Amino acid sequence: DQSGSLPGLLLEWYDRHRRILPWRFAPGEVADPYRVWLSEIMLQQTTVATVGPYFKNFLDRWPTVNDLAAADLDDVLRAWAGLGYYARARNLHKCAVAVAAQHGGRFPDTEEGLLSLPGIGAYTAAAILAIAFDKPATAMDGNVERVMARLNAVTDPLPGSKPVLRAHAAALVPDRRPGDYTQALFDLGATICAPRKPRCILCPWADACAARKLGIAEDLPAKTAK
Ligand code: ADE
Repeated sequence: DQSGSLPGLLLEWYDRHRRILPWRFAPGEVADPYRVWLSEIMLQQTTVATVGPYFKNFLDRWPTVNDLAAADLDDVLRAWAGLGYYARARNLHKCAVAVAAQHGGRFPDTEEGLLSLPGIGAYTAAAILAIAFDKPATAMDGNVERVMARLNAVTDPLPGSKPVLRAHAAALVPDRRPGDYTQALFDLGATICAPRKPRCILCPWADACAARKLGIAEDLPAKTAK
């Protein structure tokens, strides 16, 4: 039972306030790793609002990773146009070909297996493990770094503080519902623990937040001057 724990409080909040997003699954629905992978690649450096229509179009045209693997690279690049970073689209296609050819059309469910695929780095591997396979992996993105910096009042600046923030994040990932927990953290960072004017009054972690107690939430994470 995790009620009352930080993960428990966040999951309760998520059950009430989860964002409905095109790549999300209804509670209890079996996650499709292809959808998780596709959305996570698209969401790197592109906003949730922009990704929505692209994600739907890709799924309509190429419903499975085998369909995407069989697609013409030029068609994939054309469908990607507007998302930027064409190297990502090339890697996307390469990855689909590898999953189809080397893994029988099924994404691996281990960190090692995922990291061996084109375009999948530490963040994407962890996001797929957590969201698609419900394994307790730590997916660090800018949202999670910000939430961890504030929760623990880590005043050391990024990027030097990354290992500390990762350790804080990893210590919290629960064994129960790690996939929902991971998505809940993204939502918390996007809608409550925002870069500017965090809405602490609505935050399920407000009572535990060290930066809030110190009145420095909005100042974190600190960044090394460029
Ligand atoms: N940002 C990165 N991955 C996300 C996800 N699965 N849901 C919402 N925002 C995200």
